[in-house]
Amino acid sequence: MKRPVKISPSVLASDFSRLGEEVRAVAAAGCDYVHLDVMDGHFTPNITFGPPVVKALRPHTGKPFDTHLMITNAQTFAADFAKAGSDIITVHPEAEVHLDRALHAIRDLGKKAGVALNPATPEAVLEYVIDAVDLVLVMTVNPGFGGQAFLASQLDKIAHVARMIGERAIDLEVDGGIDPETAKLAARAGANVFVAGTAVFKGDYAANIKAIREAAEAA
Ligand code: DX5
Ligand code: ZN
Repeated sequence: MKRPVKISPSVLASDFSRLGEEVRAVAAAGCDYVHLDVMDGHFTPNITFGPPVVKALRPHTGKPFDTHLMITNAQTFAADFAKAGSDIITVHPEAEVHLDRALHAIRDLGKKAGVALNPATPEAVLEYVIDAVDLVLVMTVNPGFGGQAFLASQLDKIAHVARMIGERAIDLEVDGGIDPETAKLAARAGANVFVAGTAVFKGDYAANIKAIREAAEAA
């Protein structure tokens, strides 16, 4: 199945002192989702923001908030993110003992449930939960920071996940080191949602989004 290409700019690379304006700018520039990287200083060697910031950003755009929880005990916070305005809530199995329960809890909140896989995590973790999943995120860097180099080792995983998804209505997202060149590789492997921070939040946002979209669509 050929799924539509979607671009999800990560605000991690934006100017945090003007976060609302940055979200408006990237929405006006034609993104499909807005990617929100939540880090807790435990699961990730960095700290970003939590539900109050998501809530403050919500009035700035109607675009779906693609919320990437890189935190331990994500299930505990799922309701807070849902209430704050998250539309997709993605959790890491490496940080979530009860993955199946967490995914159902997110869907019970009326939100889309995602699973994010660290570079070292095999896709087999999806096998028994795939029908409880709306999005699979293959990390193409190790979580924690923007601006890292794309890990080509993940291309085989993307292809395997695409096969596991088959005809299901599940987004296959890649995150980390995405620019037009790496987006093309990931799209060829089967990805259809492209997170990009550094490659979007510089110069002309609309041109940057367009370049990634066109590269992915042409792949
Ligand atoms: C990394 C984050 C990514 C990151 C991507 O932990 O999950 O979303 O912001 O940034 P770039 O596009 O700069 O690699
Ligand atoms: Zn992310």
